[in-house]
Amino acid sequence: MAAETKIHNIKDKKDKLIYAGQEHILKYYDKLSLKQREDLLSQILSIDMSLVNELIAMGMTAKEPHPHLEPPCIIPIQDKRYQQAKGKGEEALKDGRIACFVVAGGQSTRLGYNLPKGTFEVGPVSSKSLFQYHAEKIAAMNNRYNTNIPWYIMTSKENDTQTRDFFQRHDFFQLQTKDVIFFEQGMLPAIDFDGKLIMDSPDHIAMSPNGHGGSLLGLKESGALDDMRRRGIKEIFYFQVDNALVKIADPVFIGYHLLEKAEMSTKVVSKIRPDEMVGVVGYINGRLGVIEYTELNDEERYAVNADGSLRFKAGNTAIHMLNVEFVHRLVRDGFHLPYHGARKKIPSLDKHGKLQKPHEPNGIKFETFIFDALRYAKHSVVMEVNRKEEFSPLKNISGQDSPETVRHDLINLYTGWCKAVGLEISDCPIEISPLFAMDSDEFVQRIIDKELWTQPEGLYIGSTG
Ligand code: UD1
Repeated sequence: MAAETKIHNIKDKKDKLIYAGQEHILKYYDKLSLKQREDLLSQILSIDMSLVNELIAMGMTAKEPHPHLEPPCIIPIQDKRYQQAKGKGEEALKDGRIACFVVAGGQSTRLGYNLPKGTFEVGPVSSKSLFQYHAEKIAAMNNRYNTNIPWYIMTSKENDTQTRDFFQRHDFFQLQTKDVIFFEQGMLPAIDFDGKLIMDSPDHIAMSPNGHGGSLLGLKESGALDDMRRRGIKEIFYFQVDNALVKIADPVFIGYHLLEKAEMSTKVVSKIRPDEMVGVVGYINGRLGVIEYTELNDEERYAVNADGSLRFKAGNTAIHMLNVEFVHRLVRDGFHLPYHGARKKIPSLDKHGKLQKPHEPNGIKFETFIFDALRYAKHSVVMEVNRKEEFSPLKNISGQDSPETVRHDLINLYTGWCKAVGLEISDCPIEISPLFAMDSDEFVQRIIDKELWTQPEGLYIGSTG
């Protein structure tokens, strides 16, 4: 649309904004350059004001009564159908029916890292990034099952260019570029506690990514869902960029999901402490879902069974299987997941038009969560996995779930594999490339096959310094 036409539209838009109580976003309009006016106007036009009103109403009203929570039915780690499930999953992988999907649009606020989280170097010896680990795991699965797993990567406006550049610079980690597909998630405006849209510059309304629940609509709007159908993909292996131990496209998980004809499934780990910052999987008012750690009440958090174990112990790893047709069904006809509002410190203009970084929360950001889709699935599998083998997320700059704990967990895992074949390496950090072995069994096999009793290729031993 030409700038003049858009500017003509402003009169009409202004009336609507006054009606919506949001005319303050045009406060600086007359002082803006033509280009800035055009930008602001485009942004206003791109925002769904009826949705904003819905969010404001939601942000301003009291919370709904706390739901009733029951523990879920869980497939245990030692399950008798393990081999059957593995076979089923392997078949689907060989047939090219599985895609991988990582959500990497978050802002890494707690980590205090300005680049996309996937670029963070976690390799204890190699200093490999999270993205490289994930890419190598996909390449290893491609080799193992003689297939080409497409990898969809959801970014956000804030990190899309940096993410794509990173992959370019690293030559897509040897994956075929046609099989690595990026798309941006949607954004939502933030509001202050009076229900006003927040401005972060005279020509811009503060926006933030719409949560990983936005990935469902993002898959549709970016054309990724259609691309999956064209490729014959039936199931999506979904994971978060921050989990360094994720077993990508785990055939066992895929297998259980298929055996149960599930539409959405989830992996859980036993919580290590009542206040661990993981969501809890359970039946929420009778439907499977996740109660976020921030929304759990103390009675639930500390509830124990007769044997003293935690009653609500099923920690959400955010590793899911999603059936492609289920996603299609969900995103048809303007469907959206429920919005969750969180009080945040949002940089905003003061009354003099200067940008201020608040020290206390000054507004609400809205997000949707992927796990809220569980309640719509006709069937689901909840499978418990061993945290030491599959779950070590990078969230914080120090303490729990930090670079230090992630590197420690990687070293622990690989040291265990070495011990299993009698390789005793003392006092040295160890790392094994996914391209050499994806799990302990494969590691043992590779060592036996190649008679590699000294340091094999792909096994890095060295200093963490
Ligand atoms: C999340 C889960 C929690 C789970 C834990 C496991 C939520 C609300 N909670 O917690 O139940 O136990 O992980 O590690 O997700 N992301 C986007 N776009 C967004 C927001 C997030 O792509 O708009 C991505 C991030 O890049 C990251 C992931 O989603 O990969 C998780 O987001 P984060 O905010 O870190 O969730 P947690 O609070 O850690």
